[in-house]
Amino acid sequence: MCGIVGYIGKRDVAPLLLEGLQRLEYRGYDSAGIVITSPKASGLKMVKAKGRVRDLEAKVPKRFAGTTGIAHTRWATHGAPSDENAHPHLDSEGKVAVVHNGIIDNATELRAKLVADGIEFLSETDTEVLVHLVARSQAVTLEEKVREALRHVEGTYGVAVMHADFSDRIVVARNGSPVVLGIGEKEMFVASDIAALVSHTRQIVTLEDGEMATLKADDFRTYTTEGSRTTATPTTVEWEAESYDMGGHDTYMHKEISEQSDAVDRVLRGRIDDRFSTVHLGGLNLDAREARGIRRVKILGCGTSYHAGMIGAQLIEELARIPADAEPASEFRYRNPVVDPDTLYVAVSQSGETYDVLAAVQELKRKGARVLGVVNVVGSAIAREADGGMYVHAGPEVCVVSTKCFTNTVVAFALLALHLGRIRDLSVSDGKRLIAGLRKLPAQIAAILETEEEIKKIAEEYAGAQSMMFIGRVRGYPVALEASLKLKEISYIHAEAYPASELKHGPLALIEPALPTVAIVPDDELLEKNRAALEEIKARSGRILAVAHREQEKADHTIVVPKNETELDPILMGIPLQLLAYHTALAMGRDIDKPRNLAKSVTVE
Ligand code: G6P
Repeated sequence: MCGIVGYIGKRDVAPLLLEGLQRLEYRGYDSAGIVITSPKASGLKMVKAKGRVRDLEAKVPKRFAGTTGIAHTRWATHGAPSDENAHPHLDSEGKVAVVHNGIIDNATELRAKLVADGIEFLSETDTEVLVHLVARSQAVTLEEKVREALRHVEGTYGVAVMHADFSDRIVVARNGSPVVLGIGEKEMFVASDIAALVSHTRQIVTLEDGEMATLKADDFRTYTTEGSRTTATPTTVEWEAESYDMGGHDTYMHKEISEQSDAVDRVLRGRIDDRFSTVHLGGLNLDAREARGIRRVKILGCGTSYHAGMIGAQLIEELARIPADAEPASEFRYRNPVVDPDTLYVAVSQSGETYDVLAAVQELKRKGARVLGVVNVVGSAIAREADGGMYVHAGPEVCVVSTKCFTNTVVAFALLALHLGRIRDLSVSDGKRLIAGLRKLPAQIAAILETEEEIKKIAEEYAGAQSMMFIGRVRGYPVALEASLKLKEISYIHAEAYPASELKHGPLALIEPALPTVAIVPDDELLEKNRAALEEIKARSGRILAVAHREQEKADHTIVVPKNETELDPILMGIPLQLLAYHTALAMGRDIDKPRNLAKSVTVE
């Protein structure tokens, strides 16, 4: 979704900002813009373009020098994608420039008041009201002007503001939408995502909600929206700039699929405790007595993270024998759920920013619930709001669709389930067995990835399908759901996922030669039941691709994956299906890293 990047220092700002915007492209956007100035310049210079960052770059004039600037990638909410609606927005005199992430809820009301006062609006955006509010403020300093403007605003924002009369600074503010400062040597950066910063500095300050900052070339200070100073000590981010590069792969998705063996190794590292056949999860902030008091676990997430949460719930129920279920966070927060003090709530999010998940966490906390976060991005909003949690350590994930983070999140849940299980009734021998299984995962993932050529051939066969069915039973069902999501997200082939047990209750009516079925068929206690489903499909001349631990006679193709402990099988069975989705989409010529209409982080409702 929308992205912000800003710079103040001595360097030529436009190339820096354009590079920053490119690093934010992965979030999904439909237009982009840049505004710059310099201490010697007499005003602001702005360029905006609908389309990609390269379209913006093409419009930037040759002489476009400056040393201070802010830039933005926009994902349309109020008003269609267009040059006019792209950020930055300027006031009528062209002195104030604002870029904004988030949504101003009372924009219509504020706009009506401003229009009544004779202000002419140039865009349909909610953001433009903020520009006029800053411009109209009679306050003396830019900080006060921004503060006064924000006082009128209801909603969420990450904003960066420049003013031609205060060209020595950029003022930023955060409420519900991330703002990260990058601290350099005699230069300062700001962005909505560290991805735009790490090639310049690893020294980061993440603003809290209700916090503002002033950036000058050689100095920054943070304070609350009420004006009292806050202390901000820069932290060093671990992620390398190279992790945001494609590293020889044609797409980020392919790179990220290929990284999964190392990524899983990272989520396990330092956490296994052989002495007690359990795992250490230092960040949970949950002692053994509290863990024993949990009567239910409720997992909340969106999209792929929700699917990972479904597998997590099954693992927790199976290993810790605590009733557990997962629900889309977006549904949960709108249905006035009963919040129970003995329930452990777990919020799952790769980005740690997804608005629906964050809003669910805030609502739960308001009601006194204990909430853990299972998050990839260190220091992200959900990680900070939660009472404790686990990082999944997958490294940066750039492709809009999630692959390595899904796998790592499921492994993180296996660790959590093992931890809770060993505090309760899971035996030492089961603990040992599962630890041995977890340790096998990286090598098994590497083995699956080696079968890519074979999967590619199968994918090319399916690439022409209009529609595909995915089925799985119990542990296989969330795998089927996630595989079907992956396929539809990047290939745009219609795909449905059903529990195999539900086939007879409706979807069997769809089965015919033109509708291929992908069946998850692990060697578990349900193997025979799953085979019966394959028989039913075959009897209707349906084509079948099985993902199984051995060749399936009824299937037209079987992708054989290595067997692990039964509870951990879902972790491996999803991986070939990521490659299936990838190669199907590739054969269909899709823009894999940037699927249409989708954004990496959905930071609005
Ligand atoms: C968006 C992305 C999905 C992702 C979901 C949740 O819809 O397109 O790939 O699964 O958000 O994101 P999160 O960062 O919370 O895991």
